Amino acid sequence: MSIMFELRDVKKIYDGKTVLRIDELKLEAGKINAIIGPSGAGKSTLLQLLNGLEGSSEGAISFDGEKYTKGKKIPLNERRKMAMVFQKPTLFNSSVYENIAYPLKLRRIPTKTISQKVNEVLELVGLRDKARQGALTLSGGEAQRISVARAIVTHPKALLLDEPTANLDPANVELIERIIKHANSAHGATVVIVTHNMFQAKRLGDNIVFLLNGQIVESGPSDIIFSDPKNEKTSAFIRGEMVC
Ligand SMILES: Nc1ncnc2c1ncn2[C@@H]1O[C@H](COP(=O)(O)OP(=O)(O)O)[C@@H](O)[C@H]1O
Ligand SMILES: [Mg+2]
Repeated sequence: MSIMFELRDVKKIYDGKTVLRIDELKLEAGKINAIIGPSGAGKSTLLQLLNGLEGSSEGAISFDGEKYTKGKKIPLNERRKMAMVFQKPTLFNSSVYENIAYPLKLRRIPTKTISQKVNEVLELVGLRDKARQGALTLSGGEAQRISVARAIVTHPKALLLDEPTANLDPANVELIERIIKHANSAHGATVVIVTHNMFQAKRLGDNIVFLLNGQIVESGPSDIIFSDPKNEKTSAFIRGEMVC
């Protein structure tokens, strides 16, 4: 089993309050890892630590074999192996094409290759006919599909998604789940997806991490977590009950 992310004795403290405390967590490379838990559990905080958007207050985080202790920033060339998608689409005020081309331009990819890659990914997300449209004029579902397209166009080693379908209709949810699976199966991207939707975690996740009050209650392969959870709080959560 190869590991893409590893956390050891990690804490994140905001204003004197520990919002995340993880003794140990390993996220398997090449798999879809789903992080579930109620609102306020610390899921977004965890994703931001993985991405290096936030530094940990204590402990060490490894990404792709490199270890970053507290205060040590992940260098740009390593961060560029990751891509992130947020709950709300974050598109620039330019065309759909320019939005997707942007990360490729940053990496100084030749124009012709950029054009090929952008068209390929537009095809994949079913929006080839929207290339010239202003990104800010898209519907919510289309905009999020473009956000995902922009994230995967560089074939990231790690694709991190924070509740990417929380605001979307079932048709767009299905499309986006299909794209995430494609990035994983066709390009071997390690996926880390935060979701409060149990059904989505079940549909997508190879491995599940259940987070509550900033701590891991239980983690493991999806089939085991959903059929035979060890912890009473995990069973309650997957039955759809309120847990705290
Ligand atoms: N930048 C911040 N400053 C202070 N507190 C924060 C900050 N970000 C998150 N928190 C707190 O950390 C806890 C976990 O938040 P978050 O990671 O967003 O949870 P989730 O994504 O599971 O809903 C919450 O109590 C939240 O208020
Ligand atoms: Mg969140």
